[in-house]
Amino acid sequence: MPIKNIFFLFLFFLLLVPSAEGNQKILTVNYPPDKTVMELGVLGISLSVTPGSSDLIKVKVNGSEQASAAPGKKVECFSVKLSLGVNKIEVSAIKDKNQVETIAFDIFRRSDLEREYRNPPAGFQKKNFHMTDTSLCAECHAMKPSESDKKPVNPATFASLKDGKTSPSTCYPCHKKMTAYPFVHGPASVWSCLSCHNPDAKPVYFIKKPDTDTCFACHIEQKQDWLAKKYIHGPVNTGNCAICHSPHASENPFNLVKPAWELCITCHVENGTGRHIIAGFVYEGGHPTRGKPDPVREGKELSCASCHNPHASNYPRLWALEAQSAFALCTKCHQK
Ligand code: HEC
Ligand code: HEC
Ligand code: HEC
Ligand code: HEC
Ligand code: HEC
Ligand code: HEC
Ligand code: HEC
Ligand code: HEC
Repeated sequence: MPIKNIFFLFLFFLLLVPSAEGNQKILTVNYPPDKTVMELGVLGISLSVTPGSSDLIKVKVNGSEQASAAPGKKVECFSVKLSLGVNKIEVSAIKDKNQVETIAFDIFRRSDLEREYRNPPAGFQKKNFHMTDTSLCAECHAMKPSESDKKPVNPATFASLKDGKTSPSTCYPCHKKMTAYPFVHGPASVWSCLSCHNPDAKPVYFIKKPDTDTCFACHIEQKQDWLAKKYIHGPVNTGNCAICHSPHASENPFNLVKPAWELCITCHVENGTGRHIIAGFVYEGGHPTRGKPDPVREGKELSCASCHNPHASNYPRLWALEAQSAFALCTKCHQK
């Protein structure tokens, strides 16, 4: 390009700059980019806010308010919870009770378990946050893991760590909502994130499939027990532990991604009626599969896991309770 043209281009930009300042943006989303695909149920949001431009920032997810703050710093950070599928996020700046700016973007939360949420709509993409330029975040947040993040946690040493010996975590300030659930997995509860996520992996922190490589590193007892069994449950056999268990935390006992009964019928729809249990016998109708006390497992409710081992068994149909046949199974709960 001739020198003269570059000069005119430069003049052109000089003219543009003042007008851009005239209607300056109030909010800039630093993270996340529009149309990001997430696996996790918690989304971090970071915004730059022009000082003095607003007195309240509100964050809505699918129409309901999840977070708000009176901006005091040049960067404001939030976390919100996501539902499966498309989440419509709306961030508004409010000044003197007037909405002065609103920014909207869409995030898709996918799941291997749910067929309808397995694949994102066109245009959505997975983006690795830790592979992007995080220098802006580094102004306030430590980004590189430190020695204190390297706390190995195996079931044998877990008890001692749990007794108030949790050391500070680099990951905690940004990811703290990840463990804000009633059931938290051992190593996540003491913020031993690096016991599974490798900072030298490519992409950074990436965990390879199958999950069994990760899970069996600590759950050695289960590995020895289950892999020696004659029948191994489909998803366990393919090493897909995280399809049923959150590696971090969840609403459900055993960190299950759904309550146990709902989890099983996600893949075995027709078994929910319990008709399959007594189809081979003379009875009409179905057998209860929930909502009754389990006569064998004290304090627990009857569920699919009352009769089937979710991982492995030496008996057909993954029968639990060491039952060798359907009839033997009945007699574990029904005397006669
Ligand atoms: C001006 C300082 C500052 C900058 C720059 C900054 N943060 Fe923050 N961020 C904070 C503070 C302060 C907290 C609250 C920490 C706490 O409570 O322990 C926070 C918390 C967070 C949280 C958790 C919010 C919550 O409520 O759960 C996330 C996620 C986060 N930051 C992400 C980012 C990202 C991503 C960037 C870079 C794009 C960034 N932050 C840049 C100051 C900053
Ligand atoms: C500045 C805030 C911040 C800090 C500090 C931070 N993360 Fe993140 N991390 C994020 C955000 C934002 C995402 C995007 C997903 C989300 O919204 O939660 C993310 C995503 C991830 C992912 C998914 C892969 C990716 O790159 O998107 C992993 C794994 C992860 N973080 C692990 C860690 C671990 C381990 C640490 C501590 C050693 C850590 N993070 C520290 C903000 C942070
Ligand atoms: C027991 C092993 C384990 C521990 C401990 C663990 N993670 Fe993870 N993490 C995983 C696995 C496995 C996945 C992939 C989940 C999947 O396949 O659905 C994952 C995924 C993630 C993701 C989301 C990736 C995405 O694609 O959206 C983030 C963020 C994350 N981990 C952060 C953390 C942080 C922060 C900690 C510390 C509290 C932590 N993890 C501790 C095993 C672990
Ligand atoms: C770094 C070691 C470590 C790794 C890796 C690990 N776990 Fe754990 N796991 C633990 C500890 C510690 C406990 C808690 C034991 C206790 O409470 O006494 C636990 C407990 C559990 C429990 C039982 C929870 C309960 O409520 O009883 C489940 C389920 C579980 N882990 C699944 C997994 C899965 C799935 C993976 C792979 C994604 C995995 N674990 C990887 C250390 C680990
Ligand atoms: C099909 C879903 C499913 C898969 C896949 C699965 N689990 Fe489980 N897991 C469960 C259920 C359900 C329970 C609770 C059983 C109960 O109620 O007794 C459980 C319990 C556990 C427990 C605690 C009790 C015990 O038996 O020690 C651990 C540890 C565990 N799972 C680890 C794993 C690991 C590691 C993998 C991958 C090799 C895995 N699970 C795969 C459904 C699953
Ligand atoms: C992610 C999908 C998935 C989930 C969730 C799941 N299963 Fe399965 N299940 C399979 C697959 C795949 C097979 C192997 C295919 C087959 O034999 O039909 C299987 C097989 C079985 C079998 C043996 C069938 C036979 O003919 O021997 C039983 C019993 C069973 N599952 C029970 C359960 C129970 C109980 C749960 C809940 C704890 C559960 N499943 C959750 C996918 C799943
Ligand atoms: C009271 C015990 C009991 C309960 C509870 C139970 N099952 Fe079964 N299940 C059986 C028996 C017995 C069979 C063998 C049926 C046959 O082969 O005639 C079986 C077979 C199966 C099979 C193998 C193929 C088929 O469909 O017949 C699957 C899959 C299965 N059950 C899943 C489940 C799920 C999912 C639940 C929870 C919704 C559940 N079961 C609850 C006893 C039970
Ligand atoms: C894990 C324990 C357990 C096993 C194994 C079990 N049952 Fe049941 N069964 C129950 C419970 C609990 C009830 C509900 C009792 C009540 O209503 O209070 C029930 C109820 C029944 C009923 C009455 C159904 C109705 O409509 O009220 C029949 C018939 C029955 N079982 C047959 C069987 C047969 C056949 C088998 C073996 C294939 C079997 N059960 C295995 C626990 C079990």
